Amino acid sequence: MEQRLKALEEKAIAEIKKADSTTDLEKARVHYLGKKGELTEILRGMGSLSKEERPIVGKVANIVRANIENALEESKTSIKDKELHRKLKAETIDVTMPGKEVKVGKRHPLTQAMDDLKNIFISMGFKVVEGPEVETVYYNFDALNAPKNHPSRDMSDTFYINENTVLRTQTSPMQVRVMEDEKPPIRIVSLGRCFRNDTPDATHSPMFHQIEGLVVDKGITMGDLKGTLEVFAKNFFGPDTKIKFRPHNFPFTEPSAEVDATCFKCGGEGCSVCKGNGWIEVLGAGMVHPNVLRNCGIDPEVYSGFAFGMGIDRLTMQKYGIDDIRLLFENDMRFIDQF
Ligand code: PHE
Repeated sequence: MEQRLKALEEKAIAEIKKADSTTDLEKARVHYLGKKGELTEILRGMGSLSKEERPIVGKVANIVRANIENALEESKTSIKDKELHRKLKAETIDVTMPGKEVKVGKRHPLTQAMDDLKNIFISMGFKVVEGPEVETVYYNFDALNAPKNHPSRDMSDTFYINENTVLRTQTSPMQVRVMEDEKPPIRIVSLGRCFRNDTPDATHSPMFHQIEGLVVDKGITMGDLKGTLEVFAKNFFGPDTKIKFRPHNFPFTEPSAEVDATCFKCGGEGCSVCKGNGWIEVLGAGMVHPNVLRNCGIDPEVYSGFAFGMGIDRLTMQKYGIDDIRLLFENDMRFIDQF
């Protein structure tokens, strides 16, 4: 029996030395030391030994087990090393392989235009403020001096959430919100989404973007409005741009004007961008109506101000030669990538 045990030890250790992977090693462990392993098998035969032989054989068996266990432990470390080596070797990077294309995003043309606009007005000392897209009838119409029967209040023009709540049709409610919150001098622009009940086509979208400007202080005149818009136009369209004011009507400004700029494409000679007349319509503007100042708790005898509002989508389309407003909102990367 002792001999069988010795033979078993030799065989087991030889096999463990040959093992090349942790799986091989585990197989060997189960085969020799496991519950149904060869060592257990031999020990089961101990019952047939004499009283004197039993402790001797038992001792040998313990030594054999310990030796096998030691061998297993030693191999384990070296095999782990080998396996790590193999893994590292298999994972070497071939730096000559072609790389994966990294798709870098880019700013939407509207975002680019809005960033340009913000920068121009920030450089003139304006602060950028944001306001709610879901607005009350009070801020969108009443406080802006819109008569009760003004056509823009109609359901066919404006999206109503309920009787008192609308999707803002313009950024002008921000004039009121700012004048309620801040004391003059005020100098802000506010950019954002507006909504009108329009059927989408090449030139209409029920969602579009405006920028609103407001300046209120003592002694603000139409001359300040003209100067500010001129600086804006030269910065946005180019240094040779001229602007002109046409009389117009808005409920919240008096006097009111529509402002045109010489076409940035042809410089005023007439081309496809300006439809041949040399000018493009850019914005609405005027002096803040005394009623609006009063609605906001500002004394029109002491203070005056000007306001302007402009559609960003149309300007962006003209600037980049985009002929359908819907393209701006489809978010097709093949389109957006061009700008
Ligand atoms: N809110 C006006 C519009 O949407 C534009 C405007 C703003 C006009 C401020 C005058 C002053 O058409």
